[in-house]
Amino acid sequence: PSLSEILSLHDFEAIARQVMNEKGWAYYSSAADDEITIRENHAAYHRIWFRPRILRNVTHVDWSTKILGIPSSMPIYITATALGKLGHPDGELNLTRAAAKYGVIQMIPTLASCSFDEILDAATPGQSQFLQLYVNKDRDITRKFVQHAERRGIKGLFITVDAPQLGRREKDMRQKFDAEEPDEMERNSEKVDRSQGAARAISSFIDPGLCWEDIPWFKKITKMPLILKGVQCWEDALRAYDEGLAGVVLSNHGGRQLDFARSGVEVLVEVVDKLKEKRGLAFPNDKFQLFVDGGVRRATDVIKAVALGATAVGIGRPFLYAFSSYGQEGVEKGLQILHDEFEMNMRLLGAPTMKDVVRDMVDASSVHQH
Ligand code: FNR
Repeated sequence: PSLSEILSLHDFEAIARQVMNEKGWAYYSSAADDEITIRENHAAYHRIWFRPRILRNVTHVDWSTKILGIPSSMPIYITATALGKLGHPDGELNLTRAAAKYGVIQMIPTLASCSFDEILDAATPGQSQFLQLYVNKDRDITRKFVQHAERRGIKGLFITVDAPQLGRREKDMRQKFDAEEPDEMERNSEKVDRSQGAARAISSFIDPGLCWEDIPWFKKITKMPLILKGVQCWEDALRAYDEGLAGVVLSNHGGRQLDFARSGVEVLVEVVDKLKEKRGLAFPNDKFQLFVDGGVRRATDVIKAVALGATAVGIGRPFLYAFSSYGQEGVEKGLQILHDEFEMNMRLLGAPTMKDVVRDMVDASSVHQH
């Protein structure tokens, strides 16, 4: 189908399933075990309802915002997803170029198919990018990578903390992985087991020994804002705040790690409550920012998360499916769809700006309170 027939982010998934090769589809779409969490990620948004306001002048609506102080045309960012070339020969560059055109931030994955510098070089002057970090057992490799990223102008370091071991993604494991390896692996001399899918083949360097005691080391080696990606309860969010980090991403890795992990937006509700109770924090704020990802497919999902206290929301698979089917143009179309959805829904909600999207605009009473 031509791009003009794509009406929502959901549509990209159906197309990608038809046009992608089996390996790529298996790696992108797979999730852990019985795939309960991936289903819940999107379903959780269905339990949150709006309380719109009327008779507010919504002639002009503005859904732009700032993420870690950086301007963004909407409260979303393109989250890190590994192995972009499994879907398209230009891999992550599709995301970089579309992000530039639409004024959104791309989070570059450690395990990109394109090299880190290639992705940075494809950015337009002034374009802001984040980096997702998998921490290597060899901390020297990690230190060099982080410091190189900082020198190249990366604006935030998102340390993935939900993957001490890769989840069991059976759809992916049924495929033998012989696609080209990402550059990161070439710098990493360990033997690669290619017999059990893409995820297993690329993840052996990740350090399961990573712990809270490592946090001061990260602060010593970089001045970039540090964010933990993959926090799943208020206790760890509170600790991250107390350790002086810049924020946390409430995420279950798109359902690819621990099956039966709760959706990020459900965790958001308890984190906001408890950090208010324990530390007097109000969200969103500039000092400690909350992000959510997993299952976000509509501007209404994003608006719900922002109303509940998130600064912004990460979107993963829809953009992978978009470039796998249509290249850079697909990603641009996805971003345009979100813009159009924001415009309409901000009007219907009676929220002229993102600051008007407040807690009272949602009814989250059917979200389980911990
Ligand atoms: C991911 N994700 C991920 N996260 C991370 O920290 N490092 C990584 O290398 C990857 N790789 C990756 C590959 C693929 C194919 C997917 C789908 C996801 C997780 C990602 O950042 C994010 O948490 C989820 O993708 C969000 O869920 P949705 O938007 O895909 O539903």
